[in-house]
Amino acid sequence: MKHTASLDDVLAEVAVLVRPHFGKGRTASYIPQLAGVDPKKFGMAICTIKGEESVIGDADEPFSAQSITKLFSLGLALNAIGDEVWTRVGKEPSGTPFNYLSQLEQEEGIPRNPFINPGALAVTDILLDVVKSPDAFVRDFMGMLANAPLTIDEAVATSELETGHKNRAITNLMRGFGTITHPVDAVMEAYCRQCAVTITCRQLARAALPLAAKGFSPIVEETVFHERLNRRLNALLLTCGIYDSVGSFAYRVGLPAKSGVGGGIVAVVPGQATIAVWSPELDRFGTSVVGASALEHFSQLTNCSVL
Ligand code: DON
Repeated sequence: MKHTASLDDVLAEVAVLVRPHFGKGRTASYIPQLAGVDPKKFGMAICTIKGEESVIGDADEPFSAQSITKLFSLGLALNAIGDEVWTRVGKEPSGTPFNYLSQLEQEEGIPRNPFINPGALAVTDILLDVVKSPDAFVRDFMGMLANAPLTIDEAVATSELETGHKNRAITNLMRGFGTITHPVDAVMEAYCRQCAVTITCRQLARAALPLAAKGFSPIVEETVFHERLNRRLNALLLTCGIYDSVGSFAYRVGLPAKSGVGGGIVAVVPGQATIAVWSPELDRFGTSVVGASALEHFSQLTNCSVL
């Protein structure tokens, strides 16, 4: 990152630059509990690996992490069973929406990557071999990295369990192909509960810091991902983290990142920092409109694109 202004000043400038983008997207309506979140919220947090922290707006307000949790569940699965993960899930961008069904049937139940819903559901199935409660496992891992106890929003979890018919169909299809080995209900429950973890921008930027620091968490002073695994996680984020708009996101922002339909995005500046942003209005790919714009401006102002 190259910037003459302080990080606080850069964030203040970003907060002004994103203003015209409010009102362009819509909150996630397919999970009823998320539809009611105030669309005008905006928070952003940066943590550097040297321990600097800078925040603006609603950066200390908890939001639904949703698909951002998939990054941490994948890290846990790779730590637990290593490359065997890749016998059940691919590593290619899907070019399809995150909850697409028919590609999965054409490709014999092997999801293209671990971040689309089928891939994340397969990762949950893997974690069910390792622990009784993958949702608590992921919540506690994220909480440990953020140095803050995190909670699962029961209303959000129940809301998605009741309305997640497509995810249930995806899970059933993979159970039929053998990619999923546990009962569909158990996988769905763990997955929906995991997605319902709530977190703030500040906590998320802290939790993701190992990704910027070769797998070392400066917060807990522990290596949580081996260096090579850490590089690979960043590669997957860069190529698959933003689903079927990952190309235009790389074009605009140029950072490995993961989005969630709660409106959060976490981005990694390798060797330097993490950035978490939250604003609930989404584009048609499920990415925060204001969040993506904030990251684009931040990347331009600090010249921090990896590309
Ligand atoms: O499974 C779902 O559809 C949600 N629990 C998570 C999807 C999501 O966050 C997609 N990301 N932008």
